[in-house]
Amino acid sequence: MPRNARSGTVISILLSFASFLSLLQLFDPLQSTDVPQSVLERGLADFKGLSRATRFNSTTLDSQDRILWLLQDAGVALSSLSEEERQQLPKWQHVIDLYGDDIIVHGQEQCETFRQHVPNPKDRILAVAGLFNTGTNLLNTQFTRNIQGIKTLWQVPWGKHRMAQVKWEHTAHEMEQHNKEHVLPVVIIRDPLAWMQSMCANPYAAKWRHGTHHCPNLVPDELDRQFYRHLPNDSAFGVRVKYDAESQFEFDSLAHLWSDYHLQYMNADYPVLFIRYEDLVFQPKQVLTQIAHCVGATVREPLRYQINTSKNHGSGTNWIRAITKTASAELRKHNLTADDITYLHQHLDASLMDLFQYPI
Ligand SMILES: *[C@@H]1O[C@H](CO)[C@@H](O)[C@H](O)[C@H]1NC(C)=O
Ligand SMILES: *[C@@H]1O[C@H](CO)[C@@H](O)[C@H](O)[C@H]1NC(C)=O
Ligand SMILES: *[C@@H]1O[C@H](CO)[C@@H](O)[C@H](O)[C@H]1NC(C)=O
Ligand SMILES: *[C@@H]1O[C@H](CO)[C@@H](O)[C@H](O)[C@H]1NC(C)=O
Repeated sequence: MPRNARSGTVISILLSFASFLSLLQLFDPLQSTDVPQSVLERGLADFKGLSRATRFNSTTLDSQDRILWLLQDAGVALSSLSEEERQQLPKWQHVIDLYGDDIIVHGQEQCETFRQHVPNPKDRILAVAGLFNTGTNLLNTQFTRNIQGIKTLWQVPWGKHRMAQVKWEHTAHEMEQHNKEHVLPVVIIRDPLAWMQSMCANPYAAKWRHGTHHCPNLVPDELDRQFYRHLPNDSAFGVRVKYDAESQFEFDSLAHLWSDYHLQYMNADYPVLFIRYEDLVFQPKQVLTQIAHCVGATVREPLRYQINTSKNHGSGTNWIRAITKTASAELRKHNLTADDITYLHQHLDASLMDLFQYPI
């Protein structure tokens, strides 16, 4: 064995040993020494075979622990978080209460069709699609950092926020060279209640009447009637999405925009994979593995987490903040009136809410 190769092997053995010890909290290059001792002991009891990539067994680790393990797996030291961030960290049970324990990936039954349609893996393209504020930038970052052996695109060639129906009519700027037939859209969907909160902060191309006195707003209330003239008594706040001068869509409400966008992709006559934003935040490894499996690609080992913000516009939420916000049952209901909630029950598409297990 050449000298260099041997010292490389020694170094990699030392590195593996160091990361093994760091999992045991004995040697911690990231100074995450303040994981509670109880967590450590319970973790160690279940240690056999647990690698950095292992899916945490939440029946043996208690609720708080799974979040802590997730941070540790990502190399985020608790000591690097502010006191406030630490106090706000949710328990895993909060996540389960809202979104369940298991990831949801829809459309996998079409994976084989896609692979047969594009038999050469070199031709296959994974591409991001999703409404504004659903984590499309995060998904793209995860693709470029962790999906291996296949080409990925930051957006479907017809535009990531565009309606599925424009696939053949519209091609986004500088996307002309990509063969649309070779693209598998991965649509990232997000809890509509949380999504509406983000839409209020950053509406992007969506326009509707709203103010900080009531947003998200579906049904006009008394205050709205004082604010806005000519509000009809029997309808919601309509929404217009203006993609460009030639392409505008009208929706009866934010709920209709969310439902229609996703239903179009659900009913598309080509394979589409759906993943949940919440799963990408809390269980990125599992989600990326399913996506990779669908197209015959692999996931980088160990996974590189996206900890800083994935975009330089919008809210710039980092991962810790995303964890905290996403697990909050209160934040997602902010500003919704009883009438709004009733309206959501009636107008968010029930099949989508059921399939993706989003509660109202
Ligand atoms: C989790 O651990 C429990 C108890 O050790 C075991 O019965 C169960 O099968 C495990 N679940 C998974 C998904 O590994
Ligand atoms: C809306 O309802 C109010 C009170 O119920 C009524 O005075 C008003 O005329 C109605 N406006 C329209 C446009 O129907
Ligand atoms: C995140 O951003 C901070 C400040 O911009 C930087 O110091 C740090 O290295 C970044 N971390 C990662 C993992 O990119
Ligand atoms: C919405 O939130 C704002 C500020 O957070 C508050 O002032 C307002 O009263 C709320 N409106 C409703 C309808 O809850």
